[in-house]
This record gives sequence, structure tokens and C-alpha cells, in this order.
Amino acid sequence: MAILFSFFIFLLLSLSPPQRTLAGDQSCRPTCGSLKLKYPFGSGYGCGSPRFHPFVTCEPTSNQLTLTTHTGSYPVTSISYATSTLTITPPYMSTCNSMQQSPNLGLDWTSPFQLGPSTFLLLSCPSPTCSLAINGSPVCDSSSSHLCDSIYTCPSVTGLGLPMFPPSNTCCVYSPANFNSKGELDLRSLKCEGYTSIVSLQDYPTDPNQWQYGVLLKYANGAFDIYDIDNKCNACEESGGVCGYAPPGNSFICACDIGYNTTTQCRNFFNNDQEQEIFWSSASLQIWKKWFWILAGLILII
Ligand SMILES: *[C@@H]1O[C@H](CO)[C@@H](O)[C@H](O)[C@H]1NC(C)=O
Repeated sequence: MAILFSFFIFLLLSLSPPQRTLAGDQSCRPTCGSLKLKYPFGSGYGCGSPRFHPFVTCEPTSNQLTLTTHTGSYPVTSISYATSTLTITPPYMSTCNSMQQSPNLGLDWTSPFQLGPSTFLLLSCPSPTCSLAINGSPVCDSSSSHLCDSIYTCPSVTGLGLPMFPPSNTCCVYSPANFNSKGELDLRSLKCEGYTSIVSLQDYPTDPNQWQYGVLLKYANGAFDIYDIDNKCNACEESGGVCGYAPPGNSFICACDIGYNTTTQCRNFFNNDQEQEIFWSSASLQIWKKWFWILAGLILII
């Protein structure tokens, strides 16, 4: 009976498709949650560009791509590879659904990220906001103050300690926004309680429920990368691989989906004896081991 049982376990284990077991071997993943990861983004150390790694990682527990700066960690909610932009949604940023006090939002100067063209609204500032200034120059764009009227119709304004329908001269449209010398949106020195950032009005300029909230960032693509990495990386990605780097010297590697790396791309690995060897030892050996145990189980039963 025990033998039968163990045979059954082996059978169950071996029935799971081999790709599944092998996917665990892939050190660089092509997705994080629902986001497609392509160069220069990567799922962790050794993947994507080494300039992006300390700032952007795929959190293993939540499967969430996260940008970390000196002011906090921010979920990355979309990436546009065509325009070299990404959107983050800071957890303490206000939206029409939820308004709250926010700490300063900052980017690291050493990171490849810069503020993109989203529209910041500073909320619950000292009135009148037309007198808010940074280094003597006014902050608020009065020609867009209708956005303040709209956002202050959201019932959640009470979350900032404001009354319902507060006077909109405590709100300020800050666009284009600039970060200060520490790389921060300095709410503390402006004495504003919170902020929101609008990526798109979605054709509803007066309905803040329809707006798309988030902070758009631009990323510098390739500017500091080793010559020719873009061409190498395109070939790698087109062959189903994920671009990465490895010591020494963070040189380019192409991580292929059965757990081996090449210096070129994934399709032509059979041309190279060494890579072929790695393939046989890692991937196929696992499959043969399983069949060995199934056979052993069968023999025991008989
Ligand atoms: C492939 O490269 C990744 C990223 O550098 C690394 O983590 C992994 O260990 C490498 N795998 C092999 C089999 O060398």
C-alpha cells in the first residue's frame, strides 16, 4: 500500500508540465504582476539595466514593481516603452476618492528618473495660494484654477480637515512642477497639507471622478549605457529572452527562459557547445530524473 501511495505521489509530481518547474529557474522574469518588463526595467539584481536596479525592483511578496527613492517606495502602475515614461501612484497622494496628508515626494538625483508632464494640485495650502512662492517666483498657475474648483467638489476633502466645498484659494495648480534642490516636491515648506497629480483629464475636465491620477516620470534611456547594448538587447528580447547583466563589469547577458544565460540571444544556443551543456544539465536532466523515479516505482509495485 505504501509503495502504491508513493508511486502515486511521484506520478502526480511528474504530471505537472515541465515548463512550470523550469520557470522557477529563470532568474530574470519578463513580467511583474500585470506589467511587461523590458529593458531597461528588470525584476531584480542582474536583470534589466544596472542603473535601474537599485531604484526599481519587483517586490517578491506582492509581485508589484516598485520605485524606491529617499522619500519612500512607490508602486509603478504603468510603463510606456514607446515614450520612455512610467506612472507611479504614491500611497499618500490624494485622489477624488481619498484625500489625506502627504509627506514630501522626492526623486534621487543619481537615479535615471525625472519628473514628467503630470499636473500637480497642491491641496489645503495657506490662502490665498496666489502668494505662494519658491525663491521669489510664484508657484500657482492661476489660468488652470478651474481644476481646483473641480477637485474641491470631491466629498473626500474632509480627509484634509477642510469643510465641504472649501474655498478654492487654498488649492494651487502647480504645473509644470519642479522639485527643489533635494529633488523633492516640498509640501512642508509651502505648508500645503497634501497634493494630487493628474496624468490625464480623460476628456472630463470638470469631473474629478473620471480623472486618471498618478505621477508621470520620464526615464533616461540608454544615455549612459554601454555602446551597442540596445541592438544586443533587441535581439535578445526578440528571441524570447530577458536582458540583464552579470559580473565582472556588469557586462550584457541575455537570460533565456529555461534558466541559462547567453551573451547574445536565446535562439542560437545549440551553436555553442558550452551553452548546450548547461541546457542539458539543467533542463532535461530534471525530466529524466522524474521518469527514472516513475520507472523505479513501477518496478517496485510489480
Ligand atoms: C543568469 O543571469 C542572472 C542575472 O545576472 C543570474 O542571476 C543567474 O544566476 C544567471 N544564471 C546562470 C545559470 O548563470
